[in-house]
Amino acid sequence: MAENKKTYYITTPIYYPSDKLHIGHAYTTVAADSMARYKRMRGYDVWFLTGADEHGQKIERKAKSVGKTPKEYVDEIVAGFKLLWEKLQISNDDFIRTTEERHKKVVQDIFQKMYDKGDIYKAEYEGWYCTPCETFWTEKQLEDKCCPDCGRPVELLKEESYFFRMSKYQDRLLEHIKNNPDFIQPPSRRNEMISFIESGLEDLCVSRTTFSWGIPVPFDEKHVIYVWIDALTNYISALGYGSGDEKFEKYWPADLHLVGKDIVRFHTIIWPAILMSVGLELPKKVFGHGWLLLAEGKMSKSKGNVVDPMELIDKYGVDAIRYYLIREIPTGADGYYSEEALVERINTDLANDFGNLVSRTTAMIDKFNGGLIPAPSAEEPIDRELREFAQKTVSNVENLMEEFELSNAVGEIWKLVNRTNKYIEETAPWALARDSSKRSRLETVLYYMVEALRFCTVMCTPFMPGLPPKVYMQLGIENETHVHTWESIEKWGALPSGVRINRGEPIFPRIDLKKLEIQEQQASEGAQGEKEKDDVDKKIENEITIDEFSRVDLRVAEVLKAEKVENADKLLKLEVDLGTEKKTVVAGIAEYYKPDEVVGKKVVIVANLKPAKIRGITSQGMILAASKGDKLGVITLDKDIPVGAKVK
Ligand code: ME8
Ligand code: MG
Repeated sequence: MAENKKTYYITTPIYYPSDKLHIGHAYTTVAADSMARYKRMRGYDVWFLTGADEHGQKIERKAKSVGKTPKEYVDEIVAGFKLLWEKLQISNDDFIRTTEERHKKVVQDIFQKMYDKGDIYKAEYEGWYCTPCETFWTEKQLEDKCCPDCGRPVELLKEESYFFRMSKYQDRLLEHIKNNPDFIQPPSRRNEMISFIESGLEDLCVSRTTFSWGIPVPFDEKHVIYVWIDALTNYISALGYGSGDEKFEKYWPADLHLVGKDIVRFHTIIWPAILMSVGLELPKKVFGHGWLLLAEGKMSKSKGNVVDPMELIDKYGVDAIRYYLIREIPTGADGYYSEEALVERINTDLANDFGNLVSRTTAMIDKFNGGLIPAPSAEEPIDRELREFAQKTVSNVENLMEEFELSNAVGEIWKLVNRTNKYIEETAPWALARDSSKRSRLETVLYYMVEALRFCTVMCTPFMPGLPPKVYMQLGIENETHVHTWESIEKWGALPSGVRINRGEPIFPRIDLKKLEIQEQQASEGAQGEKEKDDVDKKIENEITIDEFSRVDLRVAEVLKAEKVENADKLLKLEVDLGTEKKTVVAGIAEYYKPDEVVGKKVVIVANLKPAKIRGITSQGMILAASKGDKLGVITLDKDIPVGAKVK
């Protein structure tokens, strides 16, 4: 009966809608989604939560900087989150926004309970604050006067605040962590947290008065509740805690809070202390995964090196991106992103290993058995070896999933893919087909191939939900849903015989990197060509507001270096100095200027233009120029203005 099903409650962090999400965030959500899908397949009653962390000083400032109210700003960004999750086929059961009434009520209720218990008191806070991380730091904790977590500058705060007696829970917390080895995973994170707590927990500042974008303290409306107290509470507010909603009874405590290693401390110290204060059970497990890094370091907006998952999905397809993310981050360690590695994975693992297995299998059934899945007869040792390998793979994957070893679980599935490809080489069905006395042997081999392929496909379901339907369609078993389930691979031989297959397109076409690059170049040069056509006399129309204009960050910059771009007659690669930083800009001015004619010029650049790859060079801005007919002139200044000056 449904009520007796085991429950599984899994969460992702609620991300800040201060900017669009990048592939790092996509990794966490895809990993959680894979786990949620896996648990559903294993018969659990799953509740999978994600959402947005919308309050705090960081968001308030960001919205202001673009001339919007915080709510207008987050509404727009959160719509983008939802669209991304839809595109990535994320199967979340709920999406919590901390600006929703259902959430605010619970946060105030929790805060009041902590206060009533005597765990919250008022005092003067004097110390440091990292706004990007929304974190308080003491002088001692700073590194080179910067945030020890992100390395960015901190601000001095001096304001009246409420404090949470976290120190009171230090011993209970330590005991809990020591008695529950599974509570913090992987073990390296657990050890870090133990030493953090052992070095002494201080009371935590939990309210602010110098900005207003947050949830008011219920008994003192001048104060807004610290954004991390607000955010962490999402895990219970979304279940309707305190409202009599049966979801809370049913799903709390959470089975798994999946987070990045940057925020393990908040989830394993602050959150448990809050729960202890309020008298609620602690989550069963907090797993802190590693970073997805770029060769040049962490992704960051200011470096202009953020990788947009939307673009990747459009280019390579959702299954390929999900596969790559899961495969590339080893459990507990960091992984490196590069587009080359992504294409390599697609071509090798997906197109070659898996895609070929599907096309070979269906081609041989077509050719050697009239398109029908045969029935197996006597099992020979080589068949038994494949069957046992497949069965062992299922139990390996099950064990690895329990440990949240997603990358290794997928690795196991691929061992079976390759083992099956090897089985085909070893049994050589094409040779059996030439000998009519080997008919029943051929049928057994063909059946074993397809059955092993079905095992692989079923196991891929949590990771690449779009893949199995395509394979089942080609195998003609799209309506045989009982052989799509996890139970159906707990026993070998569930695949029905006598079914007619439908050979189809390759499941994963190979990506030709050279061809892609050329297409991208043509697209970007095409865009420049479009612009050139604009110089026919046109009426002035499409009026914009001053706010819209002010979004374009125009700056004075000096050209430090200029060189021709190889094989591109129109392009110069410029290095420009903006005072605070240097940027590389590719400009379509090579037909009008020699490189040394522009060096030393002060020009005007669009400094906040989204970086674009042109001829393999990342162009981080655009210089302004005017053109008409066959004339083009770069915009310069008629006085000597320092670099970095704003043009408005
Ligand atoms: O911290 N590699 O939100 P956030 C892997 N609002 N994962 C990454 C990553 C990368 N390069 N970059 C980000 C917050 N992540 C708070 C959370 S929860 C109650 C409040 C993922 O938008 C990773 O999961 O800064 C990390 O913990 C999270 O995004 C941080 O997202
Ligand atoms: Mg962050």
